[in-house]
Amino acid sequence: MNAGILGVGKYTPERILTNFDLEKMMDTSDEWIKTRTGIEERRIARDDEYTHDMAYEAAKEAIENAGLTPEDIDLIIVATVTQEANFPSVGNIIQDRLGAKHAAAMDLEAACSGFTYGIVTGAQFIQTGAYKHVVVVGADKLSKITDWDDRSTAVLFGDGAGAVVMGPVSEDKGLLSFVLGSDGSGGKYLNLKEENDKLYMNGREVFRFAVRKMGDASLEVLEKAGLQKEDLDLLIPHQANIRIMEASRERLGLPEEKMIKTVQKYGNTSASSIALALVDAVQEGRVKDGDNLLLVGFGGGLTWGALVIRFGK
Ligand code: UT7
Repeated sequence: MNAGILGVGKYTPERILTNFDLEKMMDTSDEWIKTRTGIEERRIARDDEYTHDMAYEAAKEAIENAGLTPEDIDLIIVATVTQEANFPSVGNIIQDRLGAKHAAAMDLEAACSGFTYGIVTGAQFIQTGAYKHVVVVGADKLSKITDWDDRSTAVLFGDGAGAVVMGPVSEDKGLLSFVLGSDGSGGKYLNLKEENDKLYMNGREVFRFAVRKMGDASLEVLEKAGLQKEDLDLLIPHQANIRIMEASRERLGLPEEKMIKTVQKYGNTSASSIALALVDAVQEGRVKDGDNLLLVGFGGGLTWGALVIRFGK
């Protein structure tokens, strides 16, 4: 059984925080942020708006978009690092709110690579025939763990959620290949500081790792799928930094119009980053039936994940 995407949904908070707003909050500039990262603005959730609220909205839209009801869902996987509590999981909370009575639910932590890990995990249940419909959500409220006194990280992140419903698709569609990886020795470069529960990052080290891994994983996953670079229709990379994204695009020899870019409007939204980029691309009509999509991400852990999926049922 091949596992593909049946529907998509997203949620982004209303409040927009621009680079000019940040200039008033800390010693930074629109010019620095734009040239170093490509980010122009990001969405910030309300204090009373949690990761599970955003995940719920995205999942609800994805289920409707797939033409299904919550009772059709067998499993909910939420990739996140910003759950309000270790348990119940975000998955449990939204399972109840959706009324997905027959669904198992769990969270998955692989930081910014979480959505790729989630898709691959969900696909296993469908490919084996164990489950028919799996909701995979990438949701994070990074503003909650952002150290607003550290300008080198505070300007990078935003909040949001994206979701897909996965299910059985025809023989020539769905997940074609994947690569997942971990290098725990790099955990020291990107983590949650114990003393204040805020995010710490060594930007230069993560940058170097990201450029290498995004390129390597992309080429590996393409080869595993038995495809050539020119067979790719869209590259959907983790939206952390336009310079890292451009390096991946160049390794794949793709023209600019074949890369989805949302970093300018959402910033780095962690587990929801690739999900939001995919959902935007679908909703804007940029993804056609039969298109070969390459999703690739990296993040805390350190982790990475890449996959090729042929869109359509
Ligand atoms: O999903 C998680 C993955 N994380 C990432 O993708 C992050 C990967 N790393 C990066 O994207 C980049 O390393 C950053 C955007 C974080 C930083 O860019 P950079 O080109 O590596 O800059 P840098 O850290 O080498 O800093 C250059 C200068 C420094 O000043 P000096 O020492 O040269 O005088 C910083 O103090 O820029 C300064 N700086 C800033 N200036 C204005 C650092 N942050 C800011 C800021 N505004 N917000």
